[in-house]
Amino acid sequence: MKNLVLLISGRGSNLQSILQAEREAAWGVCVRGVISNRADAAGLDVARAFGVPTQVIAHADFPNREAFDQALAEVIAALEPDVIALCGFMRVLGAAFVDRFAGRLVNIHPSLLPAFTGLRTHARALEEGVKWHGATVHLVSSALDHGPILAQAAVPVLDADTAETLAARVLLEEHRIYPPAVRALLEGRVQIDGLRTRIRPASDSPL
Ligand code: GAR
Repeated sequence: MKNLVLLISGRGSNLQSILQAEREAAWGVCVRGVISNRADAAGLDVARAFGVPTQVIAHADFPNREAFDQALAEVIAALEPDVIALCGFMRVLGAAFVDRFAGRLVNIHPSLLPAFTGLRTHARALEEGVKWHGATVHLVSSALDHGPILAQAAVPVLDADTAETLAARVLLEEHRIYPPAVRALLEGRVQIDGLRTRIRPASDSPL
């Protein structure tokens, strides 16, 4: 059985979408744990509601990024993960961490990468006047928000949009595209060629 570990910093709605999908479709994976870098993350309650073990590794307890990354890596490694899914995990992970778990680290980002890496993606999309915005699931590389793309979904930007209404429309798409991408990675259905990926359909897919 494959092992899944999920990292959060806050609300945990993407975490919920993955745990829900895993439960409904019986992926046959072991969800080894949810780790938060903040003790007050609401997503910890989401994990508990699904009976998933939680741990808090507070970045504020460490003198620098390297020390935090090292402690986080040791805890994760002990869970023997096949996939580590970042679900709104808001700390930049250093190269040593990323290299250690290369190919197993997956992230969801609230923009159509490579546009709008970093923070405030919805506000910046509005400022730039783009007509389409969206979300991206990608493998994590040591370049921030720039790894092989597994899935994307676009939404139109509407005249009346605020950053909040746009974020809400994108979030629905995040919840739709992230679980199947995580599942594909767990099931070894992702073929990577540079920054391009191909995903074979699941065995129970109607395709
Ligand atoms: C999501 O919109 C996710 O795409 C974003 O944080 C939010 C977390 O929400 N992630 C990033 O910005 C990563 N750079 P959630 O806690 O409800 O899943």
